[in-house]
Amino acid sequence: MSMEPPTPEAIARAAEALRAGQLIVLPTETVYGLGCNALDPDAVAKVFLAKNRPSENPLIVHVMDLEHARSCTTEWPEIASQLAAAFWPGPLTMVLPKQSSIPDAVTAGRPTVGLRWPKHPVAQKVLEAAQVPVAAPSANRFMRLSPTRAQDIDAAIAPHVAIILDGGAATVGIESTVVDLTGEPKILRQGMIGEEQIAAVLGHSLLIGDETEEGARSAPGQYRRHYAPKTPIRIARRLRAVDAGLAMHPTGPQQVIMPQESGPYAARLYAALADLDQLGLIEIVIEAPPLDTEWAAIWDRLTRASCATPEPD
Ligand code: TXA
Ligand code: MG
Repeated sequence: MSMEPPTPEAIARAAEALRAGQLIVLPTETVYGLGCNALDPDAVAKVFLAKNRPSENPLIVHVMDLEHARSCTTEWPEIASQLAAAFWPGPLTMVLPKQSSIPDAVTAGRPTVGLRWPKHPVAQKVLEAAQVPVAAPSANRFMRLSPTRAQDIDAAIAPHVAIILDGGAATVGIESTVVDLTGEPKILRQGMIGEEQIAAVLGHSLLIGDETEEGARSAPGQYRRHYAPKTPIRIARRLRAVDAGLAMHPTGPQQVIMPQESGPYAARLYAALADLDQLGLIEIVIEAPPLDTEWAAIWDRLTRASCATPEPD
């Protein structure tokens, strides 16, 4: 394994590795992905092994354009075209009925596939060079924080991959919004493309997956505790001077100053947590962000990381 800048030569090697059934780590605008050829079940099995991921949790398939996305599905509803026109390439994953060419291992035996056309130029170049759909979960070990910088990729992942392409810090910073379009449109995982933006395109409101048993079945992988650093997390209205953590209104020396706008905050979040996680702290205290809807996806990740309810203490 080697970590390399995304030169044309390195991108060509990454594409070749994908075609040869090997794993790579590639940057996307949301988080780094652990990628493999989605059409190769043996390569897909290596991804589950490298991540220590339960096999019932399906992988997102990354595509290089709209036609490529359609070729992975048996049905392409008008709303998929509308959402693609509004948000692709970008941090939106659409769940649609899968074509038989997509192996069951990718979709965890489901008849549907999650598709995303990423915006990151390096991801796009790798997809174009490889000419195969790329199944890529976040490049973290199961239940851990997703890496938003190449340096945050878990040492346990690196031995499984042929190359890590260092594409710099992710600009979105949290995982894509996942929307199920196989029935009544439903958000399975919140992301920085919010419910209101999607509803504005659809012209009506949509369902949001919950954590009831039924919700958990339709949104596999949405475990209550998830996206967590090793250090325990606590959410507080304000940090005390002695607290170490993330603060928009810092009060002490061990506090990472966080942006006051949701987009820049999300872009910074996982890297800041990864840095604090290195310090061997007893806990990381996070100042509760605003409760406005544009912070919904950030609240989702914070509550999963802390296992708390979205009520500041
Ligand atoms: O931003 C992202 O989506 C990143 C980058 C690398 O693209 N990928 C990512 O993948 O977060 P992962 O595997 O960590 O999360 C994928 C989630 C699953 O946990 C599951 O909830 C949902 O996407 N998903 C994928 N395929 C699905 C399907 N067929 N039906 C329902 N949910 C699906
Ligand atoms: Mg993940």
